Amino acid sequence: MTYPANETARAIFSPIGSSYERWAAILSLGQDARWRRTMVEGLRLPNRATVLDVAAGTGSITRLLQDRGHRVTAVDLTREMIRHHPGPWRVLARGERLPFADRTFDGLTFGYLLRYVDDPVASIAELARVVRPGGVIGMVEFGLPSGLWRAPWTFYSSILLPIAGRLIGRGWYRVGKFLKPSIEQFHQENPRLETIWRSAGLVEVRTRRMSLGGGIVMWARRP
Ligand SMILES: C[S@@+](CC[C@H](N)C(=O)[O-])C[C@H]1O[C@@H](n2cnc3c(N)ncnc32)[C@H](O)[C@@H]1O
Repeated sequence: MTYPANETARAIFSPIGSSYERWAAILSLGQDARWRRTMVEGLRLPNRATVLDVAAGTGSITRLLQDRGHRVTAVDLTREMIRHHPGPWRVLARGERLPFADRTFDGLTFGYLLRYVDDPVASIAELARVVRPGGVIGMVEFGLPSGLWRAPWTFYSSILLPIAGRLIGRGWYRVGKFLKPSIEQFHQENPRLETIWRSAGLVEVRTRRMSLGGGIVMWARRP
């Protein structure tokens, strides 16, 4: 069975696995590392917690969790991304259908997953399924700046990002053209992310908008 959203993700990420972290840091103007750090700090996990990092890619969130002593299992659907992940536990799988039993992990993280799934509520419910009751979930995603900041964001994401992508080459031009419409469409279709998380059965939903609205960090607890 093929899933169009998954095919889109693979097409975007397969060509950029080896250079993903370097260019993502530069093209986000150094902001994405702050969002990930804030998310991981805000999880408030117990010592040596078991954590599932979904859409783990090359491991930038996994490493922050490991640095804190947590035991992390990574899941991603793009072979060329997870190939560059440090491990030791890496699983090639879809976030929409996780190959783990209910209530397996103390915590779960995901970075930049929701724009690549067809049904965000069902996907978050599936993520929550593998977290034990009382466990925490954390997310990082791009936001859509509002007010005065929308115009510079639009200029950057519609003009500068594709130009930078063209110069970098190797799949980054496609990323540069893809990101703005993907972020806009996602936030137009899902204007109230907190409601989605609650609809998926999560409680204590918290949101922090960072970098003038360009980044969103969220946390919640499985009841
Ligand atoms: C922008 S990268 C983020 C990597 C990492 N989380 C980070 O913060 O740097 C997005 C990752 O999501 C993965 N992905 C997209 N859709 C997915 C899905 N449905 N299930 C699992 N992984 C998915 C892609 O393969 C890609 O590696």
